[in-house]
Order: sequence, then structure tokens, then C-alpha cells
Amino acid sequence: MSNDPLLQPYQLKHLTLRNRIMTTSHEPAYGDDGMPKDRYRLYHLERAKAGVSMVMTAGSASTSRDSPPVFSNLLVWKDEIVPWMKRLVDDCHEAGAAVMIQLSHLGRRTRWDKGDWLPVVSSTHEREPAHRATPKPAEDWDIARIIKDYVDAAERMQEAGLDGIEIMCHGHLLDQFMSPLTNTLDAPYGGSLENRARLTMEILAAIRKKVGPEIIIGMRYGVDEMEPGGIDIEEGVAIGKIFRDSGLVDYLNINRSRIHTDPAMTDLIPVQGMRSAPHLDFAGRIKAEVGMPTLHAARIPDVATARHAVATGQVDMVGMTRAHIADPHIVRKIVEGREHDIRPCVGATYCLDRIYQGGMALCIHNPSTGREETQPHEIAAAAVKKKVVVVGAGPAGLEAARVAAERGHSVVVFEVASQPGGQIRLTAQTKRRAEMIGIIDWRLAQCTAKEVEFRFNTWAEAADVLAEKPDVVVIATGGLPQTDLLAAGNDLVVSSWDILSGDVKPGTNVLIYDDAGDHAALQAAQIIADTGARVEVMTRDRSFSPEVMGMNLVPYMRALQDKAVTFTVTYKLDAVRRAGNQLEAVIGSDYMKLTKTAVYDQVVVNCGTQPLADLYFQLKPASGNKGAVDYGALIDGKPQPAVEGFQLFRIGDAVEARNTHAAIYDALRLVRTV
Ligand SMILES: Cc1cc2nc3c(=O)[nH]c(=O)nc-3n(C[C@H](O)[C@H](O)[C@H](O)COP(=O)(O)O)c2cc1C
Ligand code: SF4
Repeated sequence: MSNDPLLQPYQLKHLTLRNRIMTTSHEPAYGDDGMPKDRYRLYHLERAKAGVSMVMTAGSASTSRDSPPVFSNLLVWKDEIVPWMKRLVDDCHEAGAAVMIQLSHLGRRTRWDKGDWLPVVSSTHEREPAHRATPKPAEDWDIARIIKDYVDAAERMQEAGLDGIEIMCHGHLLDQFMSPLTNTLDAPYGGSLENRARLTMEILAAIRKKVGPEIIIGMRYGVDEMEPGGIDIEEGVAIGKIFRDSGLVDYLNINRSRIHTDPAMTDLIPVQGMRSAPHLDFAGRIKAEVGMPTLHAARIPDVATARHAVATGQVDMVGMTRAHIADPHIVRKIVEGREHDIRPCVGATYCLDRIYQGGMALCIHNPSTGREETQPHEIAAAAVKKKVVVVGAGPAGLEAARVAAERGHSVVVFEVASQPGGQIRLTAQTKRRAEMIGIIDWRLAQCTAKEVEFRFNTWAEAADVLAEKPDVVVIATGGLPQTDLLAAGNDLVVSSWDILSGDVKPGTNVLIYDDAGDHAALQAAQIIADTGARVEVMTRDRSFSPEVMGMNLVPYMRALQDKAVTFTVTYKLDAVRRAGNQLEAVIGSDYMKLTKTAVYDQVVVNCGTQPLADLYFQLKPASGNKGAVDYGALIDGKPQPAVEGFQLFRIGDAVEARNTHAAIYDALRLVRTV
């Protein structure tokens, strides 16, 4: 047996966990009408089969009708969930993993215009900034039905065969009661710690009474809210001891910070550029002081850190949640001595941000996650070996090359630059986003191991491509910044890429006109503001940076708010003209006929990219498919129709400006059937 600390079993009460790695609860929003149907089941099963010891299903599965889902949470208040859950549990059990579920009443962390449009309930009138509902303080009859709902939900989960339930007590209703910051009630549910903890303890006692001792019950709670007047470490430890001494609870899952705003949540769930494992020592301290089995997750993205967490005894079970969204096969790869093959979680937190913006969690660079049914993680070998030529070594081109090589094809990649990476290399130049290069490095290593031939510093002409006698040509040449958007003065502006790359020195009084709303504008703003310059970010949209979601916005704001940076929304830049040695911006609006001017010494535009597709159009007439993609076959995961001569495809930003996930998904689903 291995002596790797991560691979040692752990005895949690009567439950033997086969190793120390788990996924903590996270709602990927794959439910269908609140039910964990096939997509949900296959997502967890993939991890279970690959060796994870426990999957904590759901995130905040809703126990009551007045806790409506805000990110497609599972509805455990419905009886019909039992058979769906049972199927998932049975499959994961068969694969050797334990299965638990996190239950919660969201309290004010939801919206009244979701679900059944019921009033939102909490222990305060004050709204939660993140979800905006202004709650009513709970009445006695609310408390009675909420306790009953928890018990009924726990009973349903026991019937479905789950190994345990985790009560979410952080930022949700129970924590709203527990925290002095969000409890304005009088006794018996407000005031002293005993009173604030009363609802939680009543729920725990009622659940235990119903389900008995043979099911694990854990508490996930915010031990330290890191805010004046909130739960501090001493009180957090005291709460842990109340749980311990009650004899009702089997483990603690340690959280720190709050979740009522995006910045607070980012301190709990750090994004790229923030410290790894920031709360690990803290979890170890709580474990030592309370003396209960301890689980913890907070940006422990790599095996070395996870191993350290367990080897030092700071935690009993380590959560690697986003790490498994990026690569569900982590445990298998550890066991097989293939840690170097693990697809790294680069902390982009596209996954978490997307459950709000896009309605489901997707990994920025693993398009198979959440699509296990249609886009399996494993790439099948091809029956016929082909010659595949890829042009462009950005994320799309590298993914195409990786997948083609996995299929067993012979692959050549042309790249005009001296290094791979395309736009990601540009992004990664900002220190805080340097981890993004992991998307490129991992693919390069995978391609190199499969003997993909790279020709860097090579501007591929049609003749170079044809000389390879390809069966398949994939054009992944990306795009170039679009700066041709003004009625006059396009020659006077620079692009956000010019700033990011360092090709253009920042001015001292700069307008960034952001028509794309993505990271590049904010990255450029940060670079310029860091020099001490004044920056105005202007957009015609009604909010700034609409493509940069909640968690991702936080580091930018933390870098910009104490500098001379302002944001102007609902105005558009129409033209730029010279005014002596300055530039005069002509500004209009979509809302009314209006023209005003302002003077800057530099105007930067961020307007996405224009496809760089000359080579594609040169090759198109000679190709067998004339560049056409059969979308039906593509979506169904079937091969593209066979043709005489070579097949030609174009992917990623060479088609149109999108994002990294889209580029990689283009490549994966097309090339996996080549
Ligand atoms: C998409 C997504 C949804 C999440 N939803 C929940 C949730 O509903 N309840 C919860 O306790 N934690 C939730 N989390 C937090 C995770 O359990 C975990 O604490 C966090 O991702 C930090 O661990 P990691 O760095 O290993 O990912 C969510 C995380 C992600 C990525
Ligand atoms: S989106 Fe980013 S943070 Fe989320 S799993 Fe993928 S790599 Fe990790």
C-alpha cells in the first residue's frame, strides 16, 4: 500500500473513506427542474470512478419552498428527488466513493422573484448585497416550518441512501441567525450566542431524532467572519465546541470570511493571483482547539499543497473542488504516478462566476466537465491514422493538436510567434493573471509527450500547409484587436493589447473606451493606473465590464479603487481628433442625441478582435469540404462528413471573437471525431 498521506483511508465515525481527497459541496447548476438527473449524476460519477473518496453533492440544496434556487439548486423539499438521488448514490457507491449532500435554507441569500415568489425570510431586515432581497425577520411559525422542512429533507436523503448530510451554516439562514451582524431578533433566537445558535441546534436535534446515529452529519460554518462585530475566532471556536458537545455532529467543515458580498466571498474562495491555501493554518488551529474531524477547502489547487495539508495534520480531509472541475481524474493520476498529467486549475473561477452569469458551472479550459455525456474526458483512439495540420498555437490550436495527438494522428503545428499561447500569453503578462499560462503549458507538455511537431517562428502560407499533404487542416490563427470603430480618428487610438504587451507606453490622462466589456480593458486600466496616471473607463453599456463576472471583478477593484480611476457608463466614443499635442474625444450616447468633448493624452480602445483568417480563405477552395462544418454532427459528437481531399476547419477567435472556453470547446468537439 502507498504511504502517500493523501492515499491513506480515513475513518469518519462508521464510514471508511478510501483516501483523504474529497470534493466539497458546490452547486454546478446542472440540475433539471431541481432534480439531479443524468448530467448531474455523470458529473459526480466521473470523480467517483477516478478515485475521490467522497463527493459532497449539491451546494445548498434547498430545504424549503421559501428558499428558492438562485443558481439552480437542487430541491430537496420535493419527494421526487429521492429516486434521482438514489441512482446517483448507487452509482457512486459502486465506484467506491461515499456520497453526502449539503442541505440549506438560503434565508436572505436568494430573491423573492424566484421559485414561488414567497417572501424572503431571515433574522434581519437588512438585505444581502449579493442577492438583493430585503427579508422579513422570521416569525415563530416560520421557525417551526423551517425546522420541519429540514427534518423532512434529511429523511428523504436517508431514504436515497446517502452516507450523510452537511448542514450549510455559512452565510445562509442558520448563519444569519448565528452572526451578530445579521441577527436583530430578541430572545429566544437573538442576543446571546446560545440564543443565536438555538435554531441550528433545534434543527440538528430534530434531524438526529428522525434519522438516528447511522448517518453522518457535518457542519460547514464560518468560524471567523473577519469583520468587526461579527463572529470572531473565539466565538467560532465556541460554536465548534457547542456542536462537539451536543454529540449531534460528526465533523466540522471550516470556512473563513463571509459570503454576503463578492469581495468577502473572494476571501473565502480565493481566485487566481491570490494566495494558495490561505486558511489552512486556521483550519488546523480550529481542529486543534475543538478536536473534531476537520474538513477544509479553499484554493488548495495542487497535489503538493493538498499532501502538505494532510501530512501536517491540519485537516483530516482535504477539499479539492475547483481542482476536480479542471481535472476529475486527480486521484487516479496520483495513484498511477502521473501527477504531471493533471490538468491544472488555474484559479480563473470562470466555473463559479458562470453559475450566475451563464446558468451553469463550466471550466475555462476543460469543456468536458459538466458535459460528460456528450464530451467524455477520455479521448478515444482513431481507427485510421491521419495527418493533421494545425495553424496557430493559442488555446484553440493547442487543444486541437492535443486532441488529434491523443487520437493517434500525426500532428504538425505552425505558429508565427516564437512561443505558444496567443492571447493567453498576453493575459498572463499581468502578474496577477500569470497562472493562466498553465492552460498553455499543460497542453504543450501533453502535445510534446505525444510527439506533436511544433514549427515556431513560422508564418504558414497555403503552400506550406499543402506541402504537408494533410488529411485535416485546422486554422486556429486567432484574431487581432479591432480598432476600426470610430467615425474619425481610428489612427489616433491604441488598443488594449498595445498596453498589455508593453508595446505602447501608458499616457498620463487616459480614456479607455471599452466596447468588449472583457478582462483586457480592466487589465489595461490596472497597468496604466499603476504608473500614477489618471484613467477613465468608458462604455456605452449600462454597467462596466459586463463580461467580467463577480468574483473576477474583485481583484481589479482592489487594484483600482485607490487610484485615479473612474468609470463612465452609457456614453460612447464617436470620434477622436487632435487638439494640439492632446486628443479630443467626441462623445455621444445611445439614449439621446448628445455630443460632448473631453481631452486626454491617450485613447485606448478595447473592442474585441477581428478574425485573422486569410489563410483559411486561401485554403478554402482547395479543401474537400470548402470549410463547411456540419453543425448537427458537431453537436451530436459525430464525425464530419467524409470528403475527397483534405478537410478544412477554422476554430476559436479565427472565426469570431469569443473566449478561452469557447475556443477550446470548438477544438475539442471538432477534433475528437477526426
Ligand atoms: C461552482 C461552485 C459552486 C459552489 N457552491 C457552493 C455551495 O453551494 N455551498 C458551499 O458550501 N460551497 C460552495 N462552493 C465552494 C466550494 O465548496 C469550495 O469551498 C470552494 O470552491 C473552495 O475550494 P476549492 O479552492 O478547492 O475550489 C462552490 C464552489 C464552486 C466552484
Ligand atoms: S474555471 Fe478556472 S478555477 Fe474553475 S476549475 Fe477551471 S481552471 Fe479552476
